[in-house]
Amino acid sequence: APCLPLLLLAACWGGGADGHGVHPLSRIAIHHARVALDASAAVRALPKLLGSRGEDTAWVTVEFKIPRASDGDWIGVFSPSNFNGSTCPGSHGSGPGPAICSAPIKYQFTNYSSGYNKSATGALKFQLINQRQDFSFGFFTGGLSNPTLVAVSNRIVFANPKAPVYPRLALGKTWNKMTVTWTSGYGISEAHPFVEWGMKGSHPVHAAADTVTFGRESLCGEPARSVGWRDPGFIHTAFLKNLSPEKEYYYKIGHRLRNGQVIWGKPKSFRAPPYPGQKSLQRVVIFGDMGKDERDGSNEYQNYQPASLNTTDALIRDLDNTDIVFHIGDISYANGYLSQWDQFTQQVEPITSRVPYMMARSASSSYFVL
Ligand SMILES: *[C@@H]1O[C@H](CO)[C@@H](O)[C@H](O)[C@H]1NC(C)=O
Ligand SMILES: *[C@@H]1O[C@H](CO)[C@@H](O)[C@H](O)[C@H]1NC(C)=O
Ligand SMILES: *[C@@H]1O[C@H](CO)[C@@H](O)[C@H](O)[C@H]1NC(C)=O
Ligand SMILES: *[C@@H]1O[C@H](CO)[C@@H](O)[C@H](O)[C@H]1NC(C)=O
Repeated sequence: APCLPLLLLAACWGGGADGHGVHPLSRIAIHHARVALDASAAVRALPKLLGSRGEDTAWVTVEFKIPRASDGDWIGVFSPSNFNGSTCPGSHGSGPGPAICSAPIKYQFTNYSSGYNKSATGALKFQLINQRQDFSFGFFTGGLSNPTLVAVSNRIVFANPKAPVYPRLALGKTWNKMTVTWTSGYGISEAHPFVEWGMKGSHPVHAAADTVTFGRESLCGEPARSVGWRDPGFIHTAFLKNLSPEKEYYYKIGHRLRNGQVIWGKPKSFRAPPYPGQKSLQRVVIFGDMGKDERDGSNEYQNYQPASLNTTDALIRDLDNTDIVFHIGDISYANGYLSQWDQFTQQVEPITSRVPYMMARSASSSYFVL
């Protein structure tokens, strides 16, 4: 029988209190935001083009100024970049109703920039990931509970916002099948999704992938249906079959456009599981309640789930000694803010793209899946 030494990585939070607590984005009273653009306030973001060498994460610098600084000033990152009233559901761009209908995907207080409260100017660094849409930065005063938008930045965008990203492996129903799932901006009418794969040293073959998505109306409540809604893009899954025990395989996700051009993801590899009953060492990591956090210190200086980054980094460091990972529920604590799911899949991508990452439900997953 295979030997299964269990490495238990606890990422518990005193009964999950912090994970189930108030999501930082839910502190923002975005439906009550006022728009009072001030010509003497300004915010701008650089560089304008991200990921020009195919990267799916990028650091940007956001510079801002205002006539008088106050502690409640903050910068919200919006994606898509147009977040004015014209995007409100059912809105025709005028008349009464909220001025802003989508929560930012993250935010930082301007006083994180040293000297801001004296000079009323500053700069902040944000790490952005490719989430299929462009970005802009809103400069707000009045804190999170009484926000007033005073300036909006230029728009910035990834070179290919639709690029296939964040592959995640999972074991199939039998030991010799592996599934590959990923996210992209390509629907099936636009491109054919597939995985190019093979055993190391052999010719590659293609496995076609399926494509699913969901709409705002299929979600059951707030904020997922309202300010937390963000288009999830397309989720693709392919099945790699008839694997040989313990062999190394390479794979690459891709989309063939109608003109024949292929848009590739990054090359990845994994090791197939042993034959059932084969004598082998299998190193298994089991943990739950992880959540996600922002490496740039966004959302209240990592006060929400900072340890999720420590857990992720510890798993990545030990990946050469890991055969399979079980994440037993309470996944991203997105709590209805859909932008958080891309940020979660990006955070765990170094793990999920190399070893099977098996998700399981926990008691609260039914509430916190979205
Ligand atoms: C920045 O502003 C926030 C919100 O008003 C406040 O909680 C925090 O203490 C301030 N931080 C600094 C370093 O002044
Ligand atoms: C919203 O922004 C778009 C794009 O910047 C602009 O064309 C439109 O006029 C704006 N609408 C409102 C209601 O401000
Ligand atoms: C600016 O913030 C620092 C640190 O919180 C504080 O010591 C200082 O008094 C503030 N200055 C002004 C002008 O508000
Ligand atoms: C978690 O990571 C942060 C940032 O790298 C570090 O300062 C902190 O000491 C780490 N905490 C633990 C418990 O390792």
